[in-house]
Amino acid sequence: MKKHKIVTLTVNPALDKSAHFSGLVPEQKIRCEAPLYDAGGGGINVSKAISRLEGTSLSVIASGGPSGEMIKEILNKESISFQSIETKNLTRESFVAVDDNTNSQYRFNFPGTSVTDAEKNEIIKTVEGLEAEFIVVSGSLRDGLSVDFYQQIAKIAKKSDTKMIVDTSGEGLKKVLETGVYLIKPNVGELAKLIGVERLEMEEVNDAAKQIIEKGGAEIVVVSLGPQGAVLVTKDSYDYVPAPNVAKKSTVGAGDSMVGGMVWALSQNKNLKEVIRWGVACGSAATMNEGTQLFKLEDAKRLFEWLKDK
Ligand SMILES: Nc1ncnc2c1ncn2[C@@H]1O[C@H](COP(=O)(O)OP(=O)(O)OP(=O)(O)O)[C@@H](O)[C@H]1O
Ligand SMILES: [Mg+2]
Repeated sequence: MKKHKIVTLTVNPALDKSAHFSGLVPEQKIRCEAPLYDAGGGGINVSKAISRLEGTSLSVIASGGPSGEMIKEILNKESISFQSIETKNLTRESFVAVDDNTNSQYRFNFPGTSVTDAEKNEIIKTVEGLEAEFIVVSGSLRDGLSVDFYQQIAKIAKKSDTKMIVDTSGEGLKKVLETGVYLIKPNVGELAKLIGVERLEMEEVNDAAKQIIEKGGAEIVVVSLGPQGAVLVTKDSYDYVPAPNVAKKSTVGAGDSMVGGMVWALSQNKNLKEVIRWGVACGSAATMNEGTQLFKLEDAKRLFEWLKDK
């Protein structure tokens, strides 16, 4: 038995600050309502989604300074277990401002600070020391971490028989595929980039995913298609699941919720047909909530029931 069922890794977390205001006017002071704080970043969101489904995970984060402390406080409050690698540099913040006059959302994202070599080695050592059944690597890399950083994690996962799930993009993802992982979840644009084409039509998705699987890049490729749903491809199967028609408020966190739903289902030994449906259910349920809020358990359950025989 492994010590942890699910570990998530967030190397570049963010303290998300959001506030409402009425009217965006240049030069003048814009009075905002009291801000709300949230812990964000790919792996953290996946851990939150798992917790929403009444599952547990260990969230490994690299955090530093007062913003890092606030993230830890929020995770504590939400009863999400975490292990932090302390960084000398401050954890980044992001700012979301909602104009109530027009109901428009403005999202300000800042780059992450850099990590030192010693901190990087500490992250690797930490992951090496965790016996996990599943490790989820999600989100962008940051300065100080080379493009093969996630590949290094993939090598550790391979050696320790840990199933790795990756949700990232660009060169970092390409590198990961050289080593090979259990599951990747690109959206259709990310998949196109991976195989070096400008864009992909729906009917080309299966072949593109199969190319990756045949080369040993991943055992399972889940391609998310936004409002159209998702497909799950393995070497000998193809399963398309439409997204339910929901009252969409914000798609922020849909991808992370989907990954959370899938890894939770995998950890519960559900079959792949159920895994993709839990993914779509959680992704679509996330779009029913405002801002950075993920999904409500009852919405995810209801959508899953609806998708069961689709
Ligand atoms: N407009 C929508 N209506 C219903 N469901 C949606 C919508 N947008 C996204 N989803 C659900 O969320 C899942 C993931 O969405 P998407 O394909 O947009 O991921 P992504 O591009 O990785 O998103 P993110 O920006 O969060 O990284 C979809 O497979 C679908 O189930
Ligand atoms: Mg995504």
